Amino acid sequence: MAREHEHGFIGRQRELDALQAALARAVSGQPGVVLLTGEPGIGKTRTAQELVEHAGGLNVLALWGRCPEEPGAPPYWPWLQLIRRYVALQDEDVLGEMLGSAAAYVAALDPEQLGRLGVDRPVPPESDAAKARFRVFDAIAGFWRRAAARQPLLLVIDDLHRADVPSLRLLEFIMAEADDSRLMLLGTYRDSEVVRQHPLSDTLAELHRHVSVQRYLLGGFSPAETARFVATVDAAASAELATALHEQTEGHPLFLTELVLDRNQVRAPGGKPAGVGARAVPKGVREAIGVRLNRLNPSCLRVLQHAAVFGREFRLELLQQVLADLTEDDCLAALAEARTASLIDALAESGGYQFAHALVRDTLYDELPAALRARWHQRIGQAFETAYQGDLTPCFSALAHHYHAAGAAGDVSKAIKYATRAAERAAAMQAHEEASRHYRQACELLPAGPATEARRCHLLLGLGNAQNSAGA
Ligand SMILES: Nc1ncnc2c1ncn2[C@@H]1O[C@H](COP(=O)(O)OP(=O)(O)O)[C@@H](O)[C@H]1O
Ligand SMILES: [Mg+2]
Repeated sequence: MAREHEHGFIGRQRELDALQAALARAVSGQPGVVLLTGEPGIGKTRTAQELVEHAGGLNVLALWGRCPEEPGAPPYWPWLQLIRRYVALQDEDVLGEMLGSAAAYVAALDPEQLGRLGVDRPVPPESDAAKARFRVFDAIAGFWRRAAARQPLLLVIDDLHRADVPSLRLLEFIMAEADDSRLMLLGTYRDSEVVRQHPLSDTLAELHRHVSVQRYLLGGFSPAETARFVATVDAAASAELATALHEQTEGHPLFLTELVLDRNQVRAPGGKPAGVGARAVPKGVREAIGVRLNRLNPSCLRVLQHAAVFGREFRLELLQQVLADLTEDDCLAALAEARTASLIDALAESGGYQFAHALVRDTLYDELPAALRARWHQRIGQAFETAYQGDLTPCFSALAHHYHAAGAAGDVSKAIKYATRAAERAAAMQAHEEASRHYRQACELLPAGPATEARRCHLLLGLGNAQNSAGA
C-alpha cells in the first residue's frame, strides 16, 4: 500500500459510516467482514485506506495485504504480507507470546522469516493432507485470535478477486473460528470479475454462515463530488469544466484523475492550461492513461514497459538487469520522470516501486507486441535466477510464471522445471489448489513421446495427490 494521497478524500459518507460502525462492533468483540466492490479505479483501495487511517486513532492495529494482480506470487501471499507486517511491528517477547506454537507453522509457509519467528526449523510435513492443512490453519487462526485479544485488529485484503484459492480457504477458516475476537476483515474486489464460478463466490457464501458480512458497491462521484474532486487536483478548474468532466467520466475517480493530470501537463502558450475539449477527449480510462504515457520521454516509456512485464510491483535491481544497456543513472532518471507524472510510486522498502494503479500497468503490458513480451519474460526469468542464485525457493512461482509466459520461443525445459518446483513447494505449504495449477501447467508444457513418459507420470501423480488433498 503506502501510497501518499495527493488529494483529500471525497464523499463515500455512507460507506465510511458503515465501515466505522463495523470497526466499532469488532472492537467490542463482534468480528465481521465488510467488502467494497466496484470496477477498477472506482476507489475501493482509497476508501479502505481511509478506514485504516481512522483505525489508527482508535488504537486498532491495521494491517494491509494485497493479492497480486498478476500471477507469480507464492501461495498465501496476502496472508504472508499480513503476518510479516505484524511480525515486523512487535517486540520479540510479545511476538513469541502471540505466535506460541504457531511460529513453526508460519515458518513452514514463509521460510524467509525463520529467524525473526524465533524457530530453528519449520514444522515437518505430515502425510495426511487434510490433517496437515487443518493444523496449519488452526495454528494461524489461533495466532490471530491471541493478537486480537491483545489489540483489536483490522485486516485489509485488497483485490480479493485475485486471491489464490488456499488464501481464500484460510480466510474462511479464520473467520469461522473468530468467536468473539476483536477482529474486522475488510476486503475489496472487482465485482465484474467475480462470476458465479469464481472461487470467491464460494468464500462469500461460506463467510455468511459464520459472521456478519456487509457488501458495498461503489459507484461514481455525484456532480458536486466531482467538482470537489477536480478542485483538489486543480484549484483553478472552472465549474463548467467540472460539469463537462462529470459527463465524460460519470464521476469515475481514476478516469477523472487521468483527465485532470493530462490537462495540467499540457500548457497552452502563455502558461494557461489547455482546456478539456482542446483535443479529442479519451473515451475511457485506459485510453486516458495511454494519452499520458505517450507524453513521456521515449527512454522513460521503455523503462516502464519493461517494468510492466514484472507486474504491478517491481524492483530496481532486477529491472536494471533486464535493461542492461541503460546505466543506473538513466534508469533512476526515467523512474523519477514517471514518479513526477504520478504513474508510479516508490514503496517503503528501498528499490521497490509500484504502478500507481493496476490499469497503468495493464495498459502498458497489453500494448506490447506478443513476441517482445515473451522475450522480456524470458529475460526477467534469467534476472531472477541470477539475483536469487543462493536460494531460488522464494521465487519458484515467479520463475514458473515468467518462463511459462516466455512461451515456445523461450526455455521450455525451464518452464517445466520451475512449474514442477512451484507445485512441490505449494504442496508442502498445504496450498493444494496452487499445486494443482502448477502441476497442470507443467504437464501441458511437457512434450509428448516415450522420452518424457516417466516425467509425465511423476507430474500426474503429483496432480492427482494435489487434487485429492484440495478436495479433502
Ligand atoms: N473518495 C476519493 N477521494 C479522493 N480520491 C479518490 C477517492 N476514490 C478514489 N480516489 C482516487 O482515484 C484513484 C483510483 O482509486 P483506487 O482506490 O485506486 O481504485 P480501485 O482500488 O477501486 O481500483 C486513486 O488515485 C485514488 O486516490
Ligand atoms: Mg485497488
